[in-house]
Amino acid sequence: MVITVRIILVGYGVVGQSFTSMLLRRRHETVKDYGLNPKVVAIVDRGGAAINAKGLDLEKMLALKRQKGSVSVDNEFGFRGKPPLEVIESVEAEVLVEASSTNVKDGEPGLSHIKTAFKTGKHVVTTNKGPLALAFPTLTELAAYNKVYLRFSGTVGGGTPVLELAKKCLAGDKILAIRGILNGTTNYILTEMAEKHVTFQQALGSAQKLGYAETDPSMDIDGIDPACKVVIMANWIMNKKLTLKDVDVQGIRGVTLEALEKAAKRGNTIKLVGSIDGEARVAPTEVSKHDPLCVSGVLNAVTFVSEFAGEETIIGRGAGGPETASAILRDLLDIRHNLADKMLM
Ligand SMILES: NC(=O)c1ccc[n+]([C@@H]2O[C@H](COP(=O)([O-])OP(=O)(O)OC[C@H]3O[C@@H](n4cnc5c(N)ncnc54)[C@H](OP(=O)(O)O)[C@@H]3O)[C@@H](O)[C@H]2O)c1
Repeated sequence: MVITVRIILVGYGVVGQSFTSMLLRRRHETVKDYGLNPKVVAIVDRGGAAINAKGLDLEKMLALKRQKGSVSVDNEFGFRGKPPLEVIESVEAEVLVEASSTNVKDGEPGLSHIKTAFKTGKHVVTTNKGPLALAFPTLTELAAYNKVYLRFSGTVGGGTPVLELAKKCLAGDKILAIRGILNGTTNYILTEMAEKHVTFQQALGSAQKLGYAETDPSMDIDGIDPACKVVIMANWIMNKKLTLKDVDVQGIRGVTLEALEKAAKRGNTIKLVGSIDGEARVAPTEVSKHDPLCVSGVLNAVTFVSEFAGEETIIGRGAGGPETASAILRDLLDIRHNLADKMLM
């Protein structure tokens, strides 16, 4: 059974564009192998929107965005200055894909996008951690109340199926604790410091040169980004109703070369570890070099400690446009699967 899913895509940056590129490349397989016919009916960026109920020409949208900066300049289907909320309210679609910028102060604009989608009966796939970190319990309640699905695989681990491993593969077992290296930028910095004996500032500079760290790197190096991921895992996997303010957060600015050298003498190194056991925490932590969690460079790794299966560690690239786009597609397939089950009932 092929199910057509009409999509409103809000946010057309690295992730949004990678997602449409992936749809162009994988269209045949998504229909033939998975029974999903994704039809993007609206794309919104800061300049406005492009809307076509019959489905937008994604190649043209990508070219417009790259050449002109906004999809809203399209002659036929462009609406300059049209705000996302108006599009989400007025355009008929099954799913909102929310890939606008993360904001951990008030979750906006993503939070309002998601709430408006729910109120208008749309399922949501989001890669935006801000709304989830600040309002996870409220958003899941709101989704249930409106009888829609909220999926967010790309918010933890990029394309690596961290959430799925715990939620689906370990279903039936009880996850007792989670430990994770949840941020590639800080892991790169700590790896550089430990292996090349460079200072924090030098390692940060090289991360910025390579495009791993933002000009304002505070979300990463102050531990906010991994703390958002801790909140998402605590809620989704361990059913703990936390928000960002409940996480004890310490970043890596204070990690010194001396501390790394002392740890090395004990066969350990220092990693920025996000953990959930009794409490939720992000802090520089000594980890044995033999621990599977001890990955280097920009890799992410998460260990689940479960009652019966014991310890399982998943390792992969934590970020990147194509990687995160693959998580969006995975979430869409999950929604398609659930919709198909309902139709058969
Ligand atoms: N990049 C990754 O590897 C990655 C991995 C996992 C999760 N994420 C998350 O995914 C989201 C997107 O990431 P990204 O890397 O694609 O970011 P990005 O390149 O900065 O793109 C953000 C997009 O959101 C749009 N936007 C921002 N505010 C808006 C508003 N008020 N109305 C309409 N559009 C708005 C921007 O419009 P303009 O294009 O007009 O500026 C841009 O298209 C973020 O929340 C990020 O944290 C990213």
